[in-house]
Amino acid sequence: ARRIPLVCGNFKLNGSRSMLEGIAKTLNGASLSSNVQVGVAPSAVHLDLMRQKLRSEVMVGAQDCWTKGSGAFTGETSADMLVDLGLEFSIVGHSERREKGETSAEIGEKAAYATSKGLMVIGCIGEKLEHRESGKTMSVITEQMQGYLAALKEEEMWSDMVLAYEPVWAIGTGKTASPEQAQEVHGELRDWLKTNISEKVAAETRILYGGSVTEKNCDELIKKEDIDGFLVGGASLKPEFVQICQAPG
Ligand code: G3H
Repeated sequence: ARRIPLVCGNFKLNGSRSMLEGIAKTLNGASLSSNVQVGVAPSAVHLDLMRQKLRSEVMVGAQDCWTKGSGAFTGETSADMLVDLGLEFSIVGHSERREKGETSAEIGEKAAYATSKGLMVIGCIGEKLEHRESGKTMSVITEQMQGYLAALKEEEMWSDMVLAYEPVWAIGTGKTASPEQAQEVHGELRDWLKTNISEKVAAETRILYGGSVTEKNCDELIKKEDIDGFLVGGASLKPEFVQICQAPG
């Protein structure tokens, strides 16, 4: 099957009700191609507001979700709750959360639980600058992939899985990976999926690029054969996000 491009905004810890209503208005009025999926991930407290304000073509999802459906887990959000709100996806494994001690194994369990509830999952991976400079990019990324591999045991479980390659040195820094640097990792990731899971999963899994994506660099990045869309941080809060959503068109 063809990989439908996906552009997702990660609002991180930003926004107020009025600001997000403005973003919803912009996206509702934008001409978005039906050949591109668009999603936004606001803070948990704004999920319901965004689902209500946005037209149904734009997906709404969480920035993280827990490994279980309910229980004594203070501060967490579950996939069950996201489904109950009518949401479509969750991000897991963002580097800003890995930095606080989340392990690849735990992130894999989050992905497996959320996909079992019917959510699409955007699982993040990415190396730090010190890893890249010491030639450890792929070994770090494959360690992170082991978490997803261990939890998503059946090939079918990968059908709702999207990967997002986000080099940590490119996040929020204005230093985008060059299209060649991103393609190199995306291509190796696809080979890894083929070797470790199956040819089908390698061919069908979308791999997004994230890290200082803007309306200025998105057109060059999307031309690369293994870049299937973007996970956008800072620029997703600006009107220019619409241009990024139109890049794969
Ligand atoms: O999830 C989004 C990424 O962390 C990218 O953030 O576009 O602000 O660099 P950024």
